[in-house]
Amino acid sequence: MPKVIYVGSAGSEHTIDAAPGDTVMSAAVRHGVPGIVAECGGNCSCATCHVWVREEFAPLVGPPGEMEEDLLDMGVSERRDTSRLSCQIVVTDELAGLTVDIPPEQP
Ligand code: FES
Repeated sequence: MPKVIYVGSAGSEHTIDAAPGDTVMSAAVRHGVPGIVAECGGNCSCATCHVWVREEFAPLVGPPGEMEEDLLDMGVSERRDTSRLSCQIVVTDELAGLTVDIPPEQP
């Protein structure tokens, strides 16, 4: 099972075994990772699952889709080049060890 590592703004780290096909959001919510709110349940309409993908994984994860891009532009407190909505990142074996930072607050 690919591991996903979530790092909170205060430095807390949660390493989760995600099943292939999980999203980075769903794995976090299932394991109670703080800071991933996911109000819309993964429908790409709330932006409360915002994360910053660590630089080294950004090429593997790829860029946001068009709808996600709009939400990130309008809906998150600190948009960065590596901002993604975690409900839109599907975990694969290739992404094992994926590390994301969780913003101090969600919109
Ligand atoms: S859970 Fe709402 S946009 Fe990701």
